[in-house]
Amino acid sequence: MSVHIAAKKGEIAKTVLQPGDPLRAKYIADNFLTDVKLVSKTRNVFYFTGLYKGKEVSVGASGMGIPSIGIYSYELFTEFDVDTIIRIGTCGAYTTDLKVYDLLNVEHAASESTYAKFAWEIEEDLLSHQGNTFGLINDSAKELALNLKATNIHTSDIFYRKNLALPEIATKYNCTAVEMEAFALFANAQYLGKNAATILTVSDVIPTGDQISADQRETALTPMIELALETAIK
Ligand code: HPA
Repeated sequence: MSVHIAAKKGEIAKTVLQPGDPLRAKYIADNFLTDVKLVSKTRNVFYFTGLYKGKEVSVGASGMGIPSIGIYSYELFTEFDVDTIIRIGTCGAYTTDLKVYDLLNVEHAASESTYAKFAWEIEEDLLSHQGNTFGLINDSAKELALNLKATNIHTSDIFYRKNLALPEIATKYNCTAVEMEAFALFANAQYLGKNAATILTVSDVIPTGDQISADQRETALTPMIELALETAIK
């Protein structure tokens, strides 16, 4: 049993889908998996293991931000022998070239965060997805006829800020959108030699203020969930 995940050894599948929100993890388990078992509820951060098309998959939340995903993804990789984590989240678009509901496959995450440096002595501020999952996601998107864009994104520690100008790091690395977790997931996977990918649905377009409304959110995320699940069983 790890510090933050109460599952027993063997109760978590080799591939884990990680939304930010525990209730989204429950929604996925309830609506997309069969033979589901709740394997951890420590801090109300639910982890479920079940079957998708007959293959074992786990789904559980990362929580919000780098410290939180840093903890959960590390424990999954090291305490439960997880090989692959697919983060599924939402992001804010920095550019009007993107629209709400657009699906992104994250190629690199750029961050001002010191997480990778102080955790693993990884000095870079731009980290790649890890392993072959990114490519498998592209393959699954083709099979599902989903329009998926590969892009760099900004992993920020900040949701609310005074200065609304595009952050310098986003310009430097051509980041089309912002979220708060992928950089730490990629850092952990890079250090541990594991697979990690991040799929994002654009939930808001920052320059225009367009956003997916609260009641559209549940169904809006279905293509991303199916894409992640089809990839998980490859
Ligand atoms: N900023 C950071 N994370 C986000 C945003 C945002 O605007 N939208 C969705 N996740």
